[in-house]
Amino acid sequence: MAMNGVLRPGHAALRVLDLDEGIEFYGKVLGLQETGRDKQGRVYFKAWDERDHNSVVIRQADRAGIDFFAFKVDSVATLNRLDSDLRAYGVPTERIPAGEMLETGERVRFEIPSGHLIELYAEKSDVGNGQSYLNPEAWVPAAEKGIAPVRMDHCLLYGPDIEKVQKLFHEVLGFYTVEHIVLDDGVTDLAIWLSTSIKAHDIALVRHPEPGKLHHVAYLLDSWEKVLRAADLMSINRVPIDIGPTRHGVTRGTTIYAFDRSGNRFETFCGGYQSYPDFQPIKWTMSDVGRGIFYHDRKLNDAFLTVLT
Ligand SMILES: [Fe+2]
Repeated sequence: MAMNGVLRPGHAALRVLDLDEGIEFYGKVLGLQETGRDKQGRVYFKAWDERDHNSVVIRQADRAGIDFFAFKVDSVATLNRLDSDLRAYGVPTERIPAGEMLETGERVRFEIPSGHLIELYAEKSDVGNGQSYLNPEAWVPAAEKGIAPVRMDHCLLYGPDIEKVQKLFHEVLGFYTVEHIVLDDGVTDLAIWLSTSIKAHDIALVRHPEPGKLHHVAYLLDSWEKVLRAADLMSINRVPIDIGPTRHGVTRGTTIYAFDRSGNRFETFCGGYQSYPDFQPIKWTMSDVGRGIFYHDRKLNDAFLTVLT
């Protein structure tokens, strides 16, 4: 099954240790636009070229990490069908009423075997990208404010039983595997990159004993030059850089990994190839895992497998 009505990543709900620092970082440094605050104290952001009301939501907590990650589906009918398909598959679901998140319709939430909460939803208010839908310009001033990604693009999650996650995403949600890294036993995947679109990945997972961990949320930039500009802005704003600017072998994207003020890793990246569901998945072996993750260094850094939130 492929392309089953799941459109794209919709929102990432992140925990930060200090809300004011989070607002400063996601608003001014990363350059997302704040679109609202709710009674629970959550602060909502969107990237400048996104049209829906929010894609990143932060709240203050005692530990950093990710509360949930959501995908937008193409209709309420699809939302209801996938809810019923998930239950039939044996995955309990929870319906979260419309309006529980600002400007967001009803959500279907479920836990995947890696210990993460995933949501589906069909409706979110279209607030636009600051342009008219009639005869627009190419960009708006917000496109140059801070790092200014065009969208929240994907996440990489760490947890156990990723083969069960892969089966669920394949068989119920219609995702397909684009690339994977196989451990030395030749059978077990260390990591999988899954797509519900023609992107090289919409979500990725790495096998890890502790459930529910976040490796990074990624934000798309238009060009390699903008990746370099993002690196400059990270230095100007004293943002700790994990690695890069460099390139991934997997997906071929150009990238920087860095950390927000609470230690959540984020990625600013550009490129990667376009994929289709009929493509044969690309396999990487442990002998070349360093080149797969960091194409230029050709070795993993210590943080890649150990620094998580
Ligand atoms: Fe990534």
